Amino acid sequence: MPEQASNFAFELDLFYFFLVALTAFFTVAIGAAAVYFLIKYRRRSQGEIPEQIEGDMRLEITWTVIPFLISMFIFAWGAKLYYQMYTDPKDALEIFITGKQWMWRAQHPDGQREINELHVPLGRRVKLTMTSEDVIHSYYIPAFRTKTDVVPGRYTTSWFTPTKTGTFHLFCAEYCGTQHSGMIGKVVVMDYTDYQAWLRGVPRDKTPAEAGEQFFTGLACNNCHLEGNTGRGPSLANLFGTDVKLADGSTMKVDETYIRESILRPGAKIVGGYSNDMPTFQGLVTEEQVAMIIAYIKSIGPRQNGTGANPAVAQPIGQGTSQPAAAKPAPQGGQPKQN
Ligand code: CUA
Repeated sequence: MPEQASNFAFELDLFYFFLVALTAFFTVAIGAAAVYFLIKYRRRSQGEIPEQIEGDMRLEITWTVIPFLISMFIFAWGAKLYYQMYTDPKDALEIFITGKQWMWRAQHPDGQREINELHVPLGRRVKLTMTSEDVIHSYYIPAFRTKTDVVPGRYTTSWFTPTKTGTFHLFCAEYCGTQHSGMIGKVVVMDYTDYQAWLRGVPRDKTPAEAGEQFFTGLACNNCHLEGNTGRGPSLANLFGTDVKLADGSTMKVDETYIRESILRPGAKIVGGYSNDMPTFQGLVTEEQVAMIIAYIKSIGPRQNGTGANPAVAQPIGQGTSQPAAAKPAPQGGQPKQN
């Protein structure tokens, strides 16, 4: 087994070894019983007719109930682990990942970017929001025991808390073309001081929110999406994380997936009171640019201290993407937190 370097690793390994041990136990027990009965009840003379026996209810109940309990235990434990791994954590450092034949790009909340590497701080929850520019890939960090498909056209997420400093393998775990096996990289877990130094040392682009604002103006989105709902499109200020009423009467939570869809397929969900005027931006923006525009919309979303803030989506300092870019000291990566 690879090193255990995340919060999930120990319990997942325990679960895995439990399953192996259980399987081994029953394989040996059933095999031994079969051999024992084979010898004990062998035919001792030519023409021997075995005695007829009736079933035994106690035996039937025993070998029904015990396996039932065991399988329910496996189900409950597995479901608990699954639920932990696939429930987005609060207060996580959010990093955006794009898969592309055949490389991994990462974009940090303060604007640092890297390819085929991922630098993360020790002891801090890290949430990856991932998508693909082309085909299905899978982001696999064996030492963290996390593996999540990276699918074109949608966002998938994965999270972990690194528990050990060092360098760990990163693989693509879904066959994605000729150089699939070369789509590898490394994950570097650094302690708080080293991580801060790394953040300072990496040439810093604009933050995703700043870059997103530039695309927002560059693509003329701001011509229609005026503040205060005075334009042809709804205002996007204070929108992220709220519920929006659609033209068909249904309600939709404004999250990454919804905004992405509204950029690429504007007609899919029309906001109540507006008509289907917006052209599609499919093919005009890359997934990374979409992510930056989303980061911008998040940054003008409900603010944690402002009036009318939505506490459910307000995020603490250290969550670069949800902060107004100007109000944020850079670089910063938040406090190390224990999971
Ligand atoms: Cu990407 Cu395999």
